[in-house]
Amino acid sequence: MEIKQLAVNDAAPMDLLLLADPSQEMILSYLRRGICYIVKWEHETVGVYVLLETRPHTAEIVNIAVAAAHQGKGIGKTLILHAIRLAKKLGYYTLEIGTGNSSIHQLALYQKCGFRLNYIQHNYFSKHYKEKIMENGIHCVDMIRLTMELNEIS
Ligand SMILES: CC(C)(COP(=O)(O)OP(=O)(O)OC[C@H]1O[C@@H](n2cnc3c(N)ncnc32)[C@H](O)[C@@H]1OP(=O)(O)O)[C@@H](O)C(=O)NCCC(=O)NCCS
Repeated sequence: MEIKQLAVNDAAPMDLLLLADPSQEMILSYLRRGICYIVKWEHETVGVYVLLETRPHTAEIVNIAVAAAHQGKGIGKTLILHAIRLAKKLGYYTLEIGTGNSSIHQLALYQKCGFRLNYIQHNYFSKHYKEKIMENGIHCVDMIRLTMELNEIS
C-alpha cells in the first residue's frame, strides 16, 4: 500500500470522492484549494482524502473515502492517521472532521483515531441536500463536528 500526494496534472479519483460527498461541484471547489492524497493498492487507486485549511491554524479532512471492495481492511484508519501527521507537520493547531448523525461507522472510526465530539450543526443535511438521506435505518439530518487538538498528540 502506497500513500502519495496527487500530482498537479493527475486527475482526482472522482468516483471515490463522490462516495463521501454527493456534490461534484463542492468536491471540485475544495480540490482546487486543498491537498489531496491517494492510496494505491497494486496500481489501483483505492482510497483518497482531502485536507483543507478552513481557518487560521485549522485544517479539516473535507473528504475521505475507500473503494467499497477495500473497506474494512484498515485503509480508512491509515489515511486518517496520515492526515493527522500531515496536519501536525504543516503546523496546524486543530484538525476537524464532520459526519452525519447516521454515520455510525465513521463516528466510531474518527473517535478511535482520537477525534472528540465538538458540536452539532442542526439540520445541515436537510437544508443542503435535496434528497432524503437514509443510512443504517437513520434519517441523516444533522452534521456532527469532531475536532482534535494537534499539540496534544505526540
Ligand atoms: C468511512 C471509510 C473511509 C472508512 O474506511 P475503511 O477502510 O472501511 O475503515 P477501516 O477498515 O480503516 O476501519 C477503521 C475502524 O473502524 C471500525 N469500525 C467500523 N465499523 C464500526 C462500527 N460499526 N462500530 C465500531 N467500530 C467500527 C473498525 O473496526 C476499525 O477499527 P479497528 O482498527 O480498531 O478495528 C469507508 O467506509 C468509506 O469510504 N465509506 C464511504 C465514504 C464515507 O462515508 N466517507 C466519510 C464521509 S464522513
